[in-house]
Amino acid sequence: MTNVVRMAIVDPIDSSRNSLKNLLLGIDWVWLEAECSRYEYFTEIVEQTKPAVALVSLDADPQLGLAAVAEVSMAVPSCSIMVVSKSQEGSLILQAMRNGAKEFLSAPLKLDDFMAALERMQHISGGGRAGKSKSNRVITMVGASGGVGCTALAVNLGCALAANPDNGVAVIDLDLALGDADVWLDIIPDYTIQDVADNITRLDYSMLKRSLTQHASKAFLLPRPVHLEMEAPMSPDQLQRVIGLLKATFTHLIIDVSKSFTPLDVAAMQVADDIFVVTQLDLPCLRNVVRMNSFMEEHDLAGKTKVIVNRAGLGESQISLNKALETIGREVYGQIPNEYHIVVESRNNGVPFITEHPTSKISKAIQQLAQKIDEHAEFGAAASAEPEKKKSNSIFSFLTKR
Ligand SMILES: Nc1ncnc2c1ncn2[C@@H]1O[C@H](COP(=O)(O)OP(=O)(O)OP(=O)(O)O)[C@@H](O)[C@H]1O
Ligand SMILES: [Mg+2]
Repeated sequence: MTNVVRMAIVDPIDSSRNSLKNLLLGIDWVWLEAECSRYEYFTEIVEQTKPAVALVSLDADPQLGLAAVAEVSMAVPSCSIMVVSKSQEGSLILQAMRNGAKEFLSAPLKLDDFMAALERMQHISGGGRAGKSKSNRVITMVGASGGVGCTALAVNLGCALAANPDNGVAVIDLDLALGDADVWLDIIPDYTIQDVADNITRLDYSMLKRSLTQHASKAFLLPRPVHLEMEAPMSPDQLQRVIGLLKATFTHLIIDVSKSFTPLDVAAMQVADDIFVVTQLDLPCLRNVVRMNSFMEEHDLAGKTKVIVNRAGLGESQISLNKALETIGREVYGQIPNEYHIVVESRNNGVPFITEHPTSKISKAIQQLAQKIDEHAEFGAAASAEPEKKKSNSIFSFLTKR
């Protein structure tokens, strides 16, 4: 939960409380956990919601406001208190600090002042972004061609990661037209990403949580909309904000995007820590991997792109791994074996193979991948700082010319 700053605010004046709220809602890594219009109730709210930061606006009644500061600081010492007031009177500032406030800012609150205060209170790092949890990862998965197994791997990887009790995992089906992650998990959802989109301006924690359905594996699913629509349900900015908010609750987000490179797909890639390109070792796929590599480089996404070979060992029809490596000019991050019957049975029954056949070769490969992701998260991002690039060889050079 450390990559989002969870906050509670109190301000009995509706207009200034709304301005504060709007300012905070505009910051994707701030989670407004609670807003309160009475100083008397604020301590109880902070005790219940345990935000990292409590913001007290003093101007409605400085004495009651200062009393709330003292009470919150006694009741929840882990919560950092920030005070906002139009008055910059020395005695008021002194009293606020004595009562336990860490920061005294002038009203109306300005974004820069607020960020600088959070930085001083060490809730964000110097770059202006919230400090990142080591174990928090957004993995966007994209197939190099239709039917390569992107959803099968996304769903089973999500379930494998969820088996670790330290992890909280959500799978987001961003294949908005024809996604079928719900089928793989046999979930009939009450809510979908459409509900999140419909409530985007007043999205709160409980609403977002309600939109997700938990699977027996403990992984959650945010499904694609029920109805096929012409329009995207939300803007790329809004999607990135939803992802930012989900990161407050989950250690891993697995996003299964469409193969159309829509603005939402690309937004999910931009916000990801890792982009897994799922491919098979055949000509159409490898040609697309080369094209995708160029796209990633052009859009500054190459450093976090990793290739996962699915259905490895399928047979004669496949191009050898060595030749494939020469073509795509990248290392392969993971290889998932071909186990057709297990995968088809899993999809038809809506039971992840990772739980139904945990000792099969394909499940072990997925578990290894999950372990690699967990280890990577623990040891930091250093390993992925450099793209795993190789010099592309000319054997398949014709591929790049089409
Ligand atoms: N490792 C595997 N071994 C054998 N068969 C597999 C494997 N992975 C996927 N498949 C087969 O490929 C089919 C398609 O898989 P999946 O739906 O996950 O692909 P996708 O890339 O998400 O497809 P789409 O383009 O429709 O989104 C599966 O139903 C299964 O038959
Ligand atoms: Mg799919």
